[in-house]
Amino acid sequence: MQFQVTTGSPSQQRTACAIVPIYAGGELSAAAKSIDAAGGGLISRVSKNGDIKGEPAELLLLTDTGKLPCQRILLVGLGPKAKLDRRTWRKATRSALAAIARSKYSDAALHLVSEAVSDADNYRKARLAVEIWHEVSYRFTAMKSEPGDHTSPLKSISIASSARTLRQTRQGIADGEAVGRAVALAKDLGNLPPNVCTPSYLADRARSIARKGKKLTVKVLGLPEIRKLRMGAFLAVTQGAAEPPRFIVLQYRGAPAATKPVVLVGKGITFDSGGLSIKPAGGMDEMKYDMCGAATVLGVLQAVAELELPINVVGVVPACENLPSGTATRPSDIVRTMSGQTVEILNTDAEGRLILCDAITYALRFKPSALIDIATLTGACLIALGRVRSGLLGNSDKLADQLLSAGQAADDRAWRLPLDEDYAELIKSPFADVANVGGRDAGTITAASFLSRFVGKTDWAHLDIAGTAWNQGSNKGGTGRPIPLLMEFLLHRK
Ligand code: BES
Ligand code: MN
Ligand code: ZN
Repeated sequence: MQFQVTTGSPSQQRTACAIVPIYAGGELSAAAKSIDAAGGGLISRVSKNGDIKGEPAELLLLTDTGKLPCQRILLVGLGPKAKLDRRTWRKATRSALAAIARSKYSDAALHLVSEAVSDADNYRKARLAVEIWHEVSYRFTAMKSEPGDHTSPLKSISIASSARTLRQTRQGIADGEAVGRAVALAKDLGNLPPNVCTPSYLADRARSIARKGKKLTVKVLGLPEIRKLRMGAFLAVTQGAAEPPRFIVLQYRGAPAATKPVVLVGKGITFDSGGLSIKPAGGMDEMKYDMCGAATVLGVLQAVAELELPINVVGVVPACENLPSGTATRPSDIVRTMSGQTVEILNTDAEGRLILCDAITYALRFKPSALIDIATLTGACLIALGRVRSGLLGNSDKLADQLLSAGQAADDRAWRLPLDEDYAELIKSPFADVANVGGRDAGTITAASFLSRFVGKTDWAHLDIAGTAWNQGSNKGGTGRPIPLLMEFLLHRK
């Protein structure tokens, strides 16, 4: 599927389906007017007849288009013209593109980007249209023996633009493609079963991303190297598993070497059984998604390299399984982390912070301008924020604010939780420097408080995506969040 930009008159465009907006009260959009005039008033006719009212996301397909060069017209409601905001525009565009994704058309012409929206310019609308297309056309069929009839035969969508906004539209399409593909990659990695998506599999995917990406290199460490680095906390998590761990480092160089990089650290637990502190059976299957932080990091690095952003970015992914066995870590084991601090492991199910603390210590080597870790870290975050916003914590108000507004702009929102010194009290250990769990109180904050001990003075933010990385129920599957948030942040940093 390819996106194109066209600047001609809507009524002249040859296409299998013209997607044409219409406002509530029957007011025609610019494209609708042009097609209506050339088509003998067919759009105003169906509108007057009351076949479409123009309510947000309402659809009506016209198949009898006479001599017009468009074979079909898909009318899509945008609600009242004066009130059109991004939210409504997005909903309408999603409903139209979802219908196109279900169709057998070979191409379509989208006339939605040129409509005025109060809180989105042409760049944003073009980018959103492309991201929405990726969202509605996503299918996960890798593990079905029969792929089925789900893939759309669509070859191209042309986005209508005025000559004046051509450049913004093009840029929006390019950014939207990179973000859309990164999100699809992260969804795939999350949805794959843990017997396929192992630490070695993640490393292989990282290698192939590095091979295709410009200015991108990869390094994969195995058990001997991880031991040599003395990552005692990471080793404690992997030691119960037969599947070997991997420590993946992706390095993108889009700016001079002296420019400090943004370093992203992603939790890569390819299956979290809890270890000896084993989880209940119900819903344990969802713990295949415990590598969604890692998937986010791989997706972001792929997109950054694809867009050749003029920044430096490093992705660090500690990947392993958390399983019980005769060699597994025992609750009460004490380990020495790469930083030298000792940790009393009171609960082997609090494994994310253990692999992350060593990854953070490693990440400090790159002298990050900003260090951001992304992790499905705590069930408590789900209790606090549900599946709407990701949790955000950190030691820098500036970085936190930048990430919050990036999430706002990308409709991939986060919410900041406090991280006062006082919370450190909850994870004191009588035997080691720190314990890996506190009590039931403030679970998301104590996890972040644990991580904060390893970041030093570096500007750091932690994104807890336990509630946002995947959906349950009928639309069960990875979401690719928070890739839109992070890409928005990085696109602004260039
Ligand atoms: N991967 C889980 C967190 C999680 C749970 C994410 C449910 C999404 C849904 C993490 O490793 C974990 O098990 N955390 C524990 C921490 C506790 C033992 C302090 C939790 O949240 O229960
Ligand atoms: Mn766990
Ligand atoms: Zn986990």
